[in-house]
Amino acid sequence: MNNIIEKDIANIISRLDTHIEKFNNKNILLAGGGGFLGFYFTKFFQEIKRKKNINTKVTFIDNFVSSSKNFISNDTSSGSFEFINEDICSENILNLNHKFDYIIHAAGIASPFYYRQKPLETLEVSITGSKNLLNLSKRNQSKYIFFSSSEIYGDPLPEFVPMKETYRGNVATTGPRSCYDEGKRVGETLCYIYQNYHNVNTNIIRPFNIYGPGMQKNDYRVMSNFANNFLSNKPLKIYGKGSQTRTFCYISDGIEGFLRVILLGKDGEQYNIGNANPEISIIDLAKLFFDTFNKSHDIEMVGYPSSYPEDEPNRRCPDTSKASDHLDFNSQISLEEGIKKYISWCQKEFT
Ligand SMILES: NC(=O)c1ccc[n+]([C@@H]2O[C@H](COP(=O)([O-])OP(=O)(O)OC[C@H]3O[C@@H](n4cnc5c(N)ncnc54)[C@H](O)[C@@H]3O)[C@@H](O)[C@H]2O)c1
Repeated sequence: MNNIIEKDIANIISRLDTHIEKFNNKNILLAGGGGFLGFYFTKFFQEIKRKKNINTKVTFIDNFVSSSKNFISNDTSSGSFEFINEDICSENILNLNHKFDYIIHAAGIASPFYYRQKPLETLEVSITGSKNLLNLSKRNQSKYIFFSSSEIYGDPLPEFVPMKETYRGNVATTGPRSCYDEGKRVGETLCYIYQNYHNVNTNIIRPFNIYGPGMQKNDYRVMSNFANNFLSNKPLKIYGKGSQTRTFCYISDGIEGFLRVILLGKDGEQYNIGNANPEISIIDLAKLFFDTFNKSHDIEMVGYPSSYPEDEPNRRCPDTSKASDHLDFNSQISLEEGIKKYISWCQKEFT
């Protein structure tokens, strides 16, 4: 396994300490297992088997609508993995007769580049896909975890930044981003309904821009676009003015936070998982790529390409105090350190 990922996972294992024993002999369904987070979860489950002898049986489902089959790491030599190539919106998945302890819904069309092309599929995976997985959870008495998004907050009013879980958001029901944002909001409503009317134990995770090793080369989210151009000595392209802000959370911090929700999340709760510092504009992020490696800036301001949905939120920054209080989650990796690790991994993987 790649050195960076191996060290990062060793760190996650040590930080989770005895909590990870809860996974022993558990049966897990991971929808979206072929994607970025799925790749990293796979590595994690392989490593807890190898290092701690914690056995999990993991069933992945993915239809590869926005990811590549060649990239998945369902190496079956350690751990127990099964891969199912299926759309979670299909009723076929209700025929799965494994007894799952955890059902993790991480399927989605997360990159704006892809959801611009497939708005209906983007909406459906959060609605029909969620209903199917919730019905499976109800039948199995599984704990259900839904990967929602920071996008459910929309374009937040300044007085609500950093956003707490209680902020209700400012989201457009129509427009190029609404298929993703509104889909995630309905996915959350479904959690509420199944938690309160159907006796399913649910948790909602709202990730804030996770990045790092495991992102596919053609992911087309900002970190992967910048890394690709940086490594091929092309200018980093900024859409619009570049003043829109985001926060970025390195993957090992993100995965640790997600695992804490899965293992320790309180019934029915929603958790922001991200790194609140720094809240950085996209143009400053581009500069940071060059500063981190002592290179001179090579940045190009461009209009929004037709492949990318405009109407971007101006600010995005989480309040993570709830995850800190309930789950003892606090991110560790600075943005500079994360960029170094990510670029080093991309160099080995893609060049
Ligand atoms: N990575 C982040 O920063 C981030 C931020 C906010 C929310 N999320 C959410 O977390 C989840 C995982 O994110 P990711 O970064 O791994 O995204 P990703 O795009 O890399 O992976 C998602 C996977 O889901 C699969 N998928 C989509 N529709 C499907 C369907 N109908 N049936 C089966 N598989 C389907 C895709 O093929 C892909 O492999 C997504 O739901 C995403 O919206 C991620």
